[in-house]
Amino acid sequence: MRAFSKILVSSAASAAFCLPLAAHAEGDLEPTGEWSAYQRGNADLPPMGWNSWNAFTSDIDEEKLIGSADIIVKSGLAQKGYRYIDIDDGWWLHRRTSDGRMIIRTDNFPSAAMPDGSSSFRPLTDKLHAMGLKAGIYSDIGRNSCGQVFTSTFPNQPEGSVAEREVGLYGHIDQDIALYFKDWGFDLIKVDACGIRGLPASDPKVQSGQYRALKPLIDVDSLGRTDIPAVQDLYEQVRDSLEKYNPDDDFVFSLCLWGSADVRSWAKNVGNMSRTSEDISPTWSRLLFNLDSTSRRALYAHPGSWNDPDMLYLGAGEFDANHLTQARSHFALWAILNAPLMIGYDLRKADPEIMKILGNQDIIALNQDKAGNQAVLAFDSSDAQIFVKTLANGEKGVAILNRTRAPLEAVLTAEHLKFLSNAGIDLTDLWSGKTMRFVGEQKFTLAPQETLIFRARGKRILPDGIYLSEQPGIINPADDGVVVPEPEPVTYRALTPWNGTRGTGEHPRYGGWGGAQADSTPYGEQLAIGGKRYATGLGVLANSRLEVRNEGYRQFTAEVGVDDSARNRSAPVTFEIYGDGKLLAKSKPQSFGDAPQTLEADISGAKILELVARSPAETLQPDTVTWGNAALLK
Ligand code: GLA
Repeated sequence: MRAFSKILVSSAASAAFCLPLAAHAEGDLEPTGEWSAYQRGNADLPPMGWNSWNAFTSDIDEEKLIGSADIIVKSGLAQKGYRYIDIDDGWWLHRRTSDGRMIIRTDNFPSAAMPDGSSSFRPLTDKLHAMGLKAGIYSDIGRNSCGQVFTSTFPNQPEGSVAEREVGLYGHIDQDIALYFKDWGFDLIKVDACGIRGLPASDPKVQSGQYRALKPLIDVDSLGRTDIPAVQDLYEQVRDSLEKYNPDDDFVFSLCLWGSADVRSWAKNVGNMSRTSEDISPTWSRLLFNLDSTSRRALYAHPGSWNDPDMLYLGAGEFDANHLTQARSHFALWAILNAPLMIGYDLRKADPEIMKILGNQDIIALNQDKAGNQAVLAFDSSDAQIFVKTLANGEKGVAILNRTRAPLEAVLTAEHLKFLSNAGIDLTDLWSGKTMRFVGEQKFTLAPQETLIFRARGKRILPDGIYLSEQPGIINPADDGVVVPEPEPVTYRALTPWNGTRGTGEHPRYGGWGGAQADSTPYGEQLAIGGKRYATGLGVLANSRLEVRNEGYRQFTAEVGVDDSARNRSAPVTFEIYGDGKLLAKSKPQSFGDAPQTLEADISGAKILELVARSPAETLQPDTVTWGNAALLK
């Protein structure tokens, strides 16, 4: 039993800004024999579609929506998988105070006007469904919307009294979800969180009587000042209502908390896709920022629960038809990271070259590969990165990114792909379709901000098995051992267009630092035990439990130990492997500096493995531990 529980800021204590022990995690190391990441909803593959926000902000109407939907169908994009047509901010008129029912802005959505004077989106969703598409709607978890709180100069703000303008879910979760899904027939909801972020009693909009105060649960600048359990609880209520009103599971729950509230550790248990950062803008530096917020989180994405670096911005700014290299990079990177592919472009004015990028079947196939493995960083630097994604058939997707504004030389090696270096490797360029073969390594010259993207076939280093770090889609860090959520310092910190250089700079904000990693320690160092380095393995903190799906493998093997990067070093760590809840193998206690210990287990017939690293140490900074070369063998 763990002595320390996860420390989260609870409602009671956040006022005092101290860090109490929250009722969580005690017992999380006990094996359950179950897979606990979210599986309800309709998101076995990253959802694809179109959303109105990047193209129109809140200046949205039926004509614009159906116009883009039409083109999605006629251009063949729908056939290629783009199915969800999502209305973002701007659809609401107000909440009827007599019964709390939401009223649609029928001036902009004429088909929603009912003969009896009420409003319903049913005709619109019927129309989209008849076109073979799915329909998405938008709300906020607070009382008020993002538009009201942050962009009130944008059009189509809710109208009426203070109460009528409370269009968010707060206090109406079950009623609104029933209306949107059961009555109106939507298939997806994006739930924003501005209403629980931006309306403290001190806000001028509150003081002037425009909105009611709602004590902020989220402070995006501070995990310590955020009431994480309270935020999680609200989103769990939405999940519960979605399950209640969609017994057929035909829903997608899209969380929009911009990476705040440590959402990257818990969204995978609550919904189908979850934003990892603030909004993307059509600039290269914001692309890097959004990319970085997702790229080191491969183990937190699985079929059913995806990391969302925000919608595509192809077609605008630095990703428009005059910047096709950058537009291709944006698309390739989002695809290989298993990002939901949500077009944010006015398709009625679409440039054919941009349409060609969005319709690249081979790159879509990489994104929609059924194994659901988010790409892992095989090479990392501030200048170049290499992302490798293992596909269901054992081939690899590989993207080589030049982050800089100058040309760059990059070498791809067999080791990056976990292929043998003495056998031929075939690459297919997913833009040109051209193929090439190399042995050992291959040099490329990249244009500024270019991303090369290939499918690779070669001889796998492990012929009769898989390395676990190649398969993040089957690994769930049920408890990653993080005691105090920490902001991630390695994310590229782009200027926000809305702040510029006002204030003191872009500080690390997003929780996730110290989370479990593929082929790296939790803090981004190279895996190593007792001086032996590992290019392959899982890095995690002590007092952690990883769930692993096993489809027919018979043998587990790993070299385990306390990682050389461990800082606490006060107590040894024991490594255990469970199969369907039963202990299969256990290591001797391993201390810092000990040579790695080989741990093997017969896993025949077991469906869920659990990898537990246990330590009696009572510490806020658990030691890093390594499952070196962890693999499942036939
Ligand atoms: C937030 C979200 C955006 C968009 C706007 C709408 O900023 O992050 O994606 O939905 O609100 O106002």
